Amino acid sequence: MERHIKTIGILTSGGDAPGMNAAIRAVTRTARFNDINVIGILRGYQGLIEKEFVKFTSSSVSNTIQRGGTILKTARSKEFMTPEGRKKAYANMVEAEIDALVVIGGNGSLTGAQLFAREYDIPIIGLPGTIDNDLYGTDSTIGYDSALNTIVECVDKIRDTANSHDRIFFIEVMGRDAGFLAQNSAIASGAEAAIIPEGNTDVDQLAAFIERGKRKSKNSAIVLVSEAQKDGVGGAMYYADRIRNEYPQFDARVTILGHLQRGGMPSAYDRILASRMGYAAIEALLEGQRNIMIGIKNDEIVYVPFARAVKMNKPINEELITVLNVLSM
Ligand code: F6P
Repeated sequence: MERHIKTIGILTSGGDAPGMNAAIRAVTRTARFNDINVIGILRGYQGLIEKEFVKFTSSSVSNTIQRGGTILKTARSKEFMTPEGRKKAYANMVEAEIDALVVIGGNGSLTGAQLFAREYDIPIIGLPGTIDNDLYGTDSTIGYDSALNTIVECVDKIRDTANSHDRIFFIEVMGRDAGFLAQNSAIASGAEAAIIPEGNTDVDQLAAFIERGKRKSKNSAIVLVSEAQKDGVGGAMYYADRIRNEYPQFDARVTILGHLQRGGMPSAYDRILASRMGYAAIEALLEGQRNIMIGIKNDEIVYVPFARAVKMNKPINEELITVLNVLSM
């Protein structure tokens, strides 16, 4: 062990994700198992700056594994992005005798952790908690599988009305800079296409694609679109407008799934993932690891340095694009 860790702080930051509570539970219980005290920090980094600290025991996390959202609350702290904010946060940690930090969040949250760890001598372990699945070095992030299931359930319903009216639906899903949700929910719901930030699908390719589908007696279509803005509007609106203008023979509609994708009970997969990762976070601290994100690769827990997790772009497997293209004809 690098140094004796008596007390850890734990926080959730950025967009909430189903499974965050399962991760908080796993970190808390594993820490207590190893006689480490746990301080729950409310409202992410902002709570670290404002000293919103709550002592956590094993029973603080009872009856939480199945709950969506985060019992610690979350925030996107602008103040923490300033050196003054981080200075206050560090002073509060020293005062509360917090020896190490576990941060559960997405790209922005782990970038904050990386900055903090560079400036101050505190071990930080990150857990990937985001529905976007956009962190490099892990096959899946906590919340991604649950959000995918939520999206697929919604798309199945939209498919009924799309079919009845012979319409094309552009369904917008989250993932500002990452197309994992759009691409995989398109495969899972049998959609005709996905438009993702990583791809360069233009609307003409899309229409050709849809027409190909129509020749095979398809009269309706579902297109999953990542929320990335195009010409100042959300992706789904942008493509639906272009279809209306350029291909008026299609009756296009838009559905934006929005924040409902982040809510709801975590799937079994996410609960297990969060439990394994939360356990691994404490094991890593006990081994003397610092400034790494816990990831999962081929079902094995891996340690990913922050610099790699947040800086490298996680690529979409090209095979997923081919599978969708072939199966949607
Ligand atoms: O970062 C996760 C995410 O869900 C993104 O996909 C989405 O763009 C963003 O959060 C929305 O954040 P907010 O809750 O601030 O609207």
